[in-house]
Amino acid sequence: MSMQTRFTLSQSEIPEQWYNLLADFPEPLPPPLHPGTRQPVSPDMLAPLFPEALIKQEMCPDRYVPIPEEVRDIYALWRPTPLLRAVRLEKALQTPAHIYYKYEGSSPAGSHKVNTSVPQAYFNKVAGTKRLATETGAGQWGASLALASKLFGLECNVYMVKVSYQAKPYRRMLMHTWGATVHPSPSDQTNYGRKLLAEDPHCNGSLGIAISEAIEDTVTHPDTKYALGSVLNHVCLHQTVIGEESIKQMALAGEEPDVVFGCAGGGSNFAGIAFPFIRRKLKDGKKYRIVAVEPSACPSLTEGELRYDFGDTAETTPLMMMYTLGHKFMPPSIHAGGLRYHGMSPMVSHALKLGLIEAQAYHQTKVFEAATLFARTEGIVPAPESSHAIAAVVKEAIAAREAGQKRVLLFNLSGHGLLDLASYETYLSGKLVDV
Ligand SMILES: Cc1ncc(COP(=O)(O)O)c(C=O)c1O
Repeated sequence: MSMQTRFTLSQSEIPEQWYNLLADFPEPLPPPLHPGTRQPVSPDMLAPLFPEALIKQEMCPDRYVPIPEEVRDIYALWRPTPLLRAVRLEKALQTPAHIYYKYEGSSPAGSHKVNTSVPQAYFNKVAGTKRLATETGAGQWGASLALASKLFGLECNVYMVKVSYQAKPYRRMLMHTWGATVHPSPSDQTNYGRKLLAEDPHCNGSLGIAISEAIEDTVTHPDTKYALGSVLNHVCLHQTVIGEESIKQMALAGEEPDVVFGCAGGGSNFAGIAFPFIRRKLKDGKKYRIVAVEPSACPSLTEGELRYDFGDTAETTPLMMMYTLGHKFMPPSIHAGGLRYHGMSPMVSHALKLGLIEAQAYHQTKVFEAATLFARTEGIVPAPESSHAIAAVVKEAIAAREAGQKRVLLFNLSGHGLLDLASYETYLSGKLVDV
């Protein structure tokens, strides 16, 4: 057999704990503030939205948080995910770089989002919640929460950004298949949605608007809690299984990455791969470069301001210290719907501020060029969101070629694009434009 290119772990190696970077930041993360008093929010202020266990995780000082057996049992449906070396992509790029990717698209919902939807549904179930409300962009998160809710016997009510509801009907159908109710946002289900529709019946929606609707739904329905698919500390925490497994798999491959990449929308899959490597930077003196990759059309990390801002458009969330384009920013309708968020996870923002990571932005034509090259060499059709990381990897691999240097590159392939083929068709027919 020729060289090994696929590095797998056994079911017993599913991580037993999540890693909490909050415990290791060299400077503490600025707390979320109440918008009225500008005082740090207390756990009881979050109680209408989240169960106690998730609020504790949001503010947790411990370095590690145990993963309940019930969650690990469901993780076993797809975890540990494989790590592969993209030798055919390396060859096509004629690069001395070694390119590795962690494949999170192998989950039932097709992305990393189930890594957090399952624990969120679990902790809600244990707390007696009957119904969850959430928002979704491209539908990856909504589908993931629909599945997790079904597995724990919860109702699931999803506000899906209207432009994606129309452009990505298959994810909507997936949510229906897993038993969720899905509304195009802005919707007629909430006061905020009705107000926006009265102002502009053709409003495309945004993640910020859908979050506002899901929060309003939560506080106006009994036994309902809110679930968020990104941004918050506990979501980043749950995603660290990606990086923990990757560290073991890179050891199996006998290499250390020089650069680690992840695409960044709200920041969770990036956090998932990056945070355990940041721990090794901080604790073991490792020298990785860690790069968050975002769309040029919604460049919160590369062009946003670091300041307190709302997480949603209707100003219902606490204020969070984050890189933001402003909560009223309406991102253009790019194909990577899951990256259309005005802000960025406070933890990822803090890591950038402290110089632990860097950020890059790419236009969507460059992203689809890299995605198509990846599909044609490695076979997997990547999600448009994940393809931002691929664009950055391709650039780095070409730089390695030009410098005549071997560099070991690792990226998180956060999801497959099999339900995004219409976007590929637009690109392949030459109709994709940069906005
Ligand atoms: C496949 C995929 N990757 C990445 C993202 C971006 O989210 P996050 O930055 O939280 O990982 C999304 C969001 O929907 C997604 O579907």
